[in-house]
Amino acid sequence: MAKSKYILIVFSIFISFSNLAQENLITNVYNRATTSLDGDWHYIIDPYENGYYNYRYEPFDQQESPWASAFFLNSKPRNPSDLIEYDFDQMPTLKVPGDWNSQDPQLLYYEGTVWYKKSFDYTLSKESNRAFIYFEASNYKTEVYLNGKKLGTHIGGFTPFNYEVTDVIREKENHLIVKVDNKRLKDGVPTLNTDWWNYGGLTRGVKVIETSKVFVDDYFIQLSPTDDNHIKGYVSLSGEDIVEKDITIQIPELGISQNVKTDKSGYAVINLLSDKIKYWSTKNPFLYKVILEADGDRVEDQIGFRTIRTQGSEILLNGEPIFLRGISIHEESPIRDGRGHSTEDAETLLSWAQDLGCNYVRLAHYPHNEHTVRLADQKGILIWEENPVYWTISWDNAETYHTAENQLTELIARDKNRASVIIWSMANETPNVPARNIFLQKLASHAKSLDDTRLISAALEQKDYNNDPHTRTIQDPFAEVVDVLSFNQYIGWYDGLPDKCQTISWKIEQDKPVLISEFGAGAKAGLHGDKKERWTEEYQEDLYIQTLRMLDGIENIQGLSPWILVDFRSPRRVLPKIQDGWNRKGLISDDGKRKKAFFALQDYYRKKANNK
Ligand code: GCU
Repeated sequence: MAKSKYILIVFSIFISFSNLAQENLITNVYNRATTSLDGDWHYIIDPYENGYYNYRYEPFDQQESPWASAFFLNSKPRNPSDLIEYDFDQMPTLKVPGDWNSQDPQLLYYEGTVWYKKSFDYTLSKESNRAFIYFEASNYKTEVYLNGKKLGTHIGGFTPFNYEVTDVIREKENHLIVKVDNKRLKDGVPTLNTDWWNYGGLTRGVKVIETSKVFVDDYFIQLSPTDDNHIKGYVSLSGEDIVEKDITIQIPELGISQNVKTDKSGYAVINLLSDKIKYWSTKNPFLYKVILEADGDRVEDQIGFRTIRTQGSEILLNGEPIFLRGISIHEESPIRDGRGHSTEDAETLLSWAQDLGCNYVRLAHYPHNEHTVRLADQKGILIWEENPVYWTISWDNAETYHTAENQLTELIARDKNRASVIIWSMANETPNVPARNIFLQKLASHAKSLDDTRLISAALEQKDYNNDPHTRTIQDPFAEVVDVLSFNQYIGWYDGLPDKCQTISWKIEQDKPVLISEFGAGAKAGLHGDKKERWTEEYQEDLYIQTLRMLDGIENIQGLSPWILVDFRSPRRVLPKIQDGWNRKGLISDDGKRKKAFFALQDYYRKKANNK
């Protein structure tokens, strides 16, 4: 008896600490019944991860009976003699969403673990309902515990994830404790070296999602790339009783109401035909109300229907050639310091891009927040979204590949129904070596398997053509894989001076559309002088004028996204009185001043818009 009882105890303890499986990402949280957990969270800075490991460096959450000093237990002394060496409730608070670097001066450069704790009551509105905790993003490695139970571990700083908590959440005093570690890792994605600030923490919102017992957890509803009267995709259910279930799809403005039946895995294919579709476009970003109902669950979305494809050297939006008048953007708030995350941040950045004359933005170098993507849907701004496979990734490491693929999967899961998103970018400035070529080709195939309606690209690098430094070309096996040939070039900044642009010709041998994913120069706003003087606004302006003239010589060019809309924080940029921890290639300074190059590009785009 004793033996079996012991086994029973061990088994029950094991379940309580096993990682509850990370649920499939719930689609379209934007329009679901959610309870925000945003606001003040207590936090503990834990550089030695003392709240996670015992003194033998063993994780508490893998111990059968973790010590009370494990932070995720939220231990409190039961009597005056108890030894507890932490207390969340007496600690200061951080605002969630928000990186920690910009909220606490002692954390500006901090790279390590911070623990967050949020207490909340929660009553399911219906006994049979289910509850999930949804994180919009958390940088970089996140361990989540609810009421002492480990929900799971997520790796990746810019994509959403969720855990079912139906059997863990309670009516009173839930404590959600989250360990976030933003240490850069050689085998991470991104890796150790980047040219942006390593903002850590719960950088985007956290919410409770309540669903019915069976609910529509995922759907993909887009226009077929080969038939613009055909809306196709799938819808899936989550729950126990999901086989042979009826799901109704309605698009009222098209007079569509169709029933589909799920298969044995709760999945149903969607095929809707209509010759009355009003296509989404940059000039007319029309969004249809789409309603999905099943077994009492109802979810509504706003979806634009358009086709995007290439034909030889052209990019066709709804069958019409389009020139992408773009700009690159990092996700930093233009309103306050730190990571951008709000609708106000998105509204400001996208309206600045529109002031510039843009119909397209490159969201560099990682997935931005969902507000930005949904706002672009409404504004009719096309988007390049990017997986943070940046520079010197550990190409041979299988775990690194898994981390890269998982982030790409989560990005596509979140944004696959957004008309504004036209390009999935696999990487930025990665070396042409065999291991990287395999890594990127696998990623590209994976992206295509999840979504065959969008274009694949990556920011490649240019090189001399046949060792002639005055003729540049793209020689990269991945150039054969992408749909759109994109590359960064810095002639006039890292490679000679702006006048050098006059001596360069381009020999692009791929019969594909060409996008210049980056060019630019640094300038300190307000610093004026001769255009030969580095860091003056005049130098940057001259670089733009000469570069744009040079790029017009590329026959297949179909767009550009110069580097970059706004100055951004980077620990690499330390030139005193000029950089002071900021990359100064913005067309707008970190305090909102428009530099002369802004108006040079604006003028170029105005002419482009008129004659295209
Ligand atoms: C690179 C890189 C950017 C970087 C930029 C620069 O091309 O893609 O992330 O910030 O150049 O050097 O400013």
